[in-house]
Amino acid sequence: MYKIVKAECLADKIYLMDVEAPRVARACQPGEFVIVKMDEAGERIPLTICDFNREKGLVTIVFQTVGASTERMAGLKAGDYFQDFVGPLGQPSEFVKEDLEEVKKRRYLFVAGGVGSAPVYPQVKWMKENGIDVDVIEGSKTKDLLILEDELRAVAGNLYITTDDGSYERKGMVTEVIKDLVENEGKKYDVCVAIGPMIMMKFVCKLTKELGIPTIVSLNPIMVDGTGMCGACRVSVGGEVKFACVDGPEFDGHLVDFDQAMKRQLMYKTEEGRALLRLKE
Ligand code: NAD
Ligand code: FES
Repeated sequence: MYKIVKAECLADKIYLMDVEAPRVARACQPGEFVIVKMDEAGERIPLTICDFNREKGLVTIVFQTVGASTERMAGLKAGDYFQDFVGPLGQPSEFVKEDLEEVKKRRYLFVAGGVGSAPVYPQVKWMKENGIDVDVIEGSKTKDLLILEDELRAVAGNLYITTDDGSYERKGMVTEVIKDLVENEGKKYDVCVAIGPMIMMKFVCKLTKELGIPTIVSLNPIMVDGTGMCGACRVSVGGEVKFACVDGPEFDGHLVDFDQAMKRQLMYKTEEGRALLRLKE
């Protein structure tokens, strides 16, 4: 059993929990995810890791309520337990595995959209801990839905916030800020890491392709059970079939077939769609 030591509502339908899971905390790296299960009857829910404290044995998860299981999870309080908390799973972010001196030579731009700010945070924190200053763009629909602003500000070289409705800082989508930084402020980037809703990652990739900036995306949103068994996260990357939960969740965004992945994501939401996908495969 895994004890929840902190449970907090960050914004409407967005929750943060610190969970006692010493083995996961000791081993996890930015980019990886965990699968949580509330109890015997509960669904397996894959969630990217937002933070970890190896000394205290704590792992931080952030989730949005999107259905019955996550609604039920949102009702858990500090002192309650998860039956399962499995991880770390998936592949760590590429830069964690690379030669640090090579990583230090690159100029990184991180783009965090909505709840996608949660998996971006440990990556930017890793950069800061290794003495690398990076630019971070955080986009949110409105001021009320903006999460982890203070945390990101503490680890980012520069943090650019934008809201779709202009209720806080800049007005507009993250893509407009990327364009502005590169075309008007003369910023140069060697790598962009974009994590957020699929539609955001699609349009960020379209733009960074035009701008010639290699881009990594996290396909966490298309995962269903996170085990490599259900097939929901099947995606075409550079014409090759990949599974986000096993081969990813991070991929070269310029090679991902977003339209196909989003169509699949939609179909997986209905029983009829799932039956149709099984027939086709
Ligand atoms: P959102 O809809 O509020 O979008 C966040 C930001 O993305 C917007 O503020 C905007 O700047 C940008 N954006 C959205 N559409 C865009 C477009 N067409 N062009 C350019 N930019 C655009 O995000 P949300 O409601 O917090 O998103 C929730 C989604 O994020 C869920 O689908 C969830 O699965 C996903 N998510 C992804 C990850 C991941 O690892 N990729 C992690 C957690 C959540
Ligand atoms: Fe089910 Fe990847 S999430 S196979």
